[in-house]
Amino acid sequence: MAAAIKNVTVIGGGLMGSGIAQVAAQTGHRVTVVEVNENAIEKAKNGIQNSLQRVAKKLYKDKPADAETFVKETLSRLHTSLDLKDAVKDTDLVVEAIVENLDLKHKLFSTIDSVAPNHTIFASNTSSLSIQDIASVTKRKDRFGGLHFFNPVPVMKLLEVIRIPETSDETYEKMTAWGKALGKTTITCKDTPGFVVNRLLVPLLAEAVRMLERGDATARDIDTAMKLGASHPMGPFELADYVGNDTTKFILDGWHQKYPDVELFKPIPLLTKLVEEGKLGLKTGEGFYKYDKGTK
Ligand code: 3HC
Repeated sequence: MAAAIKNVTVIGGGLMGSGIAQVAAQTGHRVTVVEVNENAIEKAKNGIQNSLQRVAKKLYKDKPADAETFVKETLSRLHTSLDLKDAVKDTDLVVEAIVENLDLKHKLFSTIDSVAPNHTIFASNTSSLSIQDIASVTKRKDRFGGLHFFNPVPVMKLLEVIRIPETSDETYEKMTAWGKALGKTTITCKDTPGFVVNRLLVPLLAEAVRMLERGDATARDIDTAMKLGASHPMGPFELADYVGNDTTKFILDGWHQKYPDVELFKPIPLLTKLVEEGKLGLKTGEGFYKYDKGTK
């Protein structure tokens, strides 16, 4: 059996990248987060610290000293870097969590392909692009796969592990074992649009917006219905605001381009309008709902 993954490089310190880095550090891995400027690094560090405090409080309810040690030790395993090539030269796994732009992902993976050690596995946390398309620029397709996490990463228990036809059994097993070491339950999915969760969740959000557009019910009532009638933790509009309306629209638009005949993927005027108005959800203070500043 090949050596387990110990050193991890997470590229992109946004919400997903920070969450992945945090959970990896919490579970004993040495992690380097790569960002493009100091400002982004500061933001990632702050986000991780806030989230770590919440996790520590939960794990060590009545033991503040243990909670403090947990935070301190986790942070000691977390490093940041502005130097992409340097950050991958001694790593076992690269998890890419940058913006959903294929050209940028290609640029990134072709840059690191020649610098990272031979054994290093490359993975993308993309939620809507094809892993095969992303991997196409590298010479290590047997050591390439998808590792798709869910927001908030420290709380959500699932990890989708995506294989492309070239992904070797060893790579797949290492990715799955790493997911388990992180405390996640893994499922396996082929490289199909949205994998399992988003392929079901995004159309649900889209149908909810269409329902609202038709005037069938209010957003509040649709949310209440799905929370109490289907036991979803968040209603579709709460979730859309949480994920970001720009993200949902981006995913739908990408699928619509690829599969123009699928009704479920067709553009939704109300969603387009909200995005054009900058009402992206929680992160901008308004989406389908309005939020107080500082709401998480
Ligand atoms: N970091 C650490 N802990 C966090 C956290 C974070 N970012 N966010 C929430 N928590 C913890 C809280 O501290 C709290 O802990 P406690 O039980 O000890 O009090 C617990 O999680 C519950 O949080 P809250 O009490 O604040 O609120 P809720 O009970 O409403 O839970 C939620 C929040 C976990 C977000 C829950 O509403 C939920 O599961 N929502 C659905 C989220 C979802 O569907 N995510 C997937 C989106 S799709 C995706 O990510 C794919 C991508 O590709 C688009």
